[in-house]
Amino acid sequence: MTDLVNRHRAVLPNWMGLYYEHPLQFVSGSGSRVTDASGRSYLDFFCGILTNMLGYDLPEVRDAVQRQLSTGIVHTSTLYLIRSQVELAEKLARLSGIKDAKVFFTNSGTEANETALMLATTARRSNQVLAMRGSYHGRSFGAVAITGNVGWKSSQLAPFSVQYLHGTDRYLPAFAGLSDAQYIEACTADLKHLLTAATARDVAGLIAEPIQGVGGFTMAPDGLLGAYRDLLAEHGALFISDEVQTAWGRTGEHFWGIGAHGVTPDMITFAKGLGNGFAIGGVIARGDLMDSLPANGISTFGGNPLSTTAANAALDYVLDHDLQRNAATLGTMIIDGLREATAPLAAVGEVRGKGLMFAVDLVDPGTGAPSPALASRALEEARERGLLIGKGGLQGHALRMAPPMNITEADAKEGMDLLIDALRAVDAEAAK
Ligand SMILES: Cc1ncc(COP(=O)(O)O)c(C=O)c1O
Repeated sequence: MTDLVNRHRAVLPNWMGLYYEHPLQFVSGSGSRVTDASGRSYLDFFCGILTNMLGYDLPEVRDAVQRQLSTGIVHTSTLYLIRSQVELAEKLARLSGIKDAKVFFTNSGTEANETALMLATTARRSNQVLAMRGSYHGRSFGAVAITGNVGWKSSQLAPFSVQYLHGTDRYLPAFAGLSDAQYIEACTADLKHLLTAATARDVAGLIAEPIQGVGGFTMAPDGLLGAYRDLLAEHGALFISDEVQTAWGRTGEHFWGIGAHGVTPDMITFAKGLGNGFAIGGVIARGDLMDSLPANGISTFGGNPLSTTAANAALDYVLDHDLQRNAATLGTMIIDGLREATAPLAAVGEVRGKGLMFAVDLVDPGTGAPSPALASRALEEARERGLLIGKGGLQGHALRMAPPMNITEADAKEGMDLLIDALRAVDAEAAK
């Protein structure tokens, strides 16, 4: 494995990090588990960054893809009709709640957000974009420009004029001790001030993640993004919900993460889980908005027969098996269990999340300050126990977990117990 690590480091970018002191290579997977090159099996609570949302080797997805492969058609281009693409777009348009919705398919979340930004800035004839502090929206020039997380901001150059809003930063002294309602009031007052005092009058729109993924599953209090949307609508500005991590019922309470804020956005961007590993992303927008671009556009691979076939099978599976309910039930079980078990641990700060999307902050037991070092330790301790988890947060001190949405109760319980055990070990070590 050391050889492969060295070869990886020699030819792949150094800003594309690998997890673990001894990085892992997975060679097979089934259900909620993967097996590495040494034959060791792991329960996967991170799922390729929320992308294997139905775990590994689900027969319904595998069979659909194999049927498509056996036709000999992997790609045709969007110059021709693709039945699976039309069917998927029909389902997504219906599920979005957006009036007269249309869908454009891409290969990634980054491209989905690029498309949404193109639509918003073109419709509004403006390059003024609002985004949230702590956000992550992708790796391209435009997506980095609206990313409000220093660890992922590889360039300050930008095609937009960007202002960052409050909403996921209530730990700042200015917001200390505020209730949800007071914090929402303070944030919306700030946006009102921004719109009337600091920006030109033609703000294109706001893009926001209902739960910040890379940001460590931090989230605005329920209702804030809705209040932002209503305020922006008064100014003609559009609201884009980046659902790359929060879609498909993962948060348990709603099908889209934005449901917690009581509004329907003008656009939804999606990617990651929909294809259960097959590359697919896209934008759902009001038809008039989608149709408003003045020139031709295609994504060569976007919405190809293979990825849309996988996505149809995965989406049907989520809906037919009411996995939103599974996310709600098992997510609540795990989050409650983690809160209870970690309450006595000085090295554990906040436990937060919704459904099968939850995080645990690691803090210095003496000062309570964010501890990226303890988070890295916890990642290793979990791996040693056979559990894969992720990391994130502005300071890199949040453990991020997002098990498959079809996880069984037994696997959910096993993963929770392994995580608690790992956290206890980190806490004991930190106390020494
Ligand atoms: C909320 C969000 N938006 C956009 C992206 C970019 O997606 P991709 O990596 O598929 O380009 C990500 C990826 O992590 C994300 O979490």
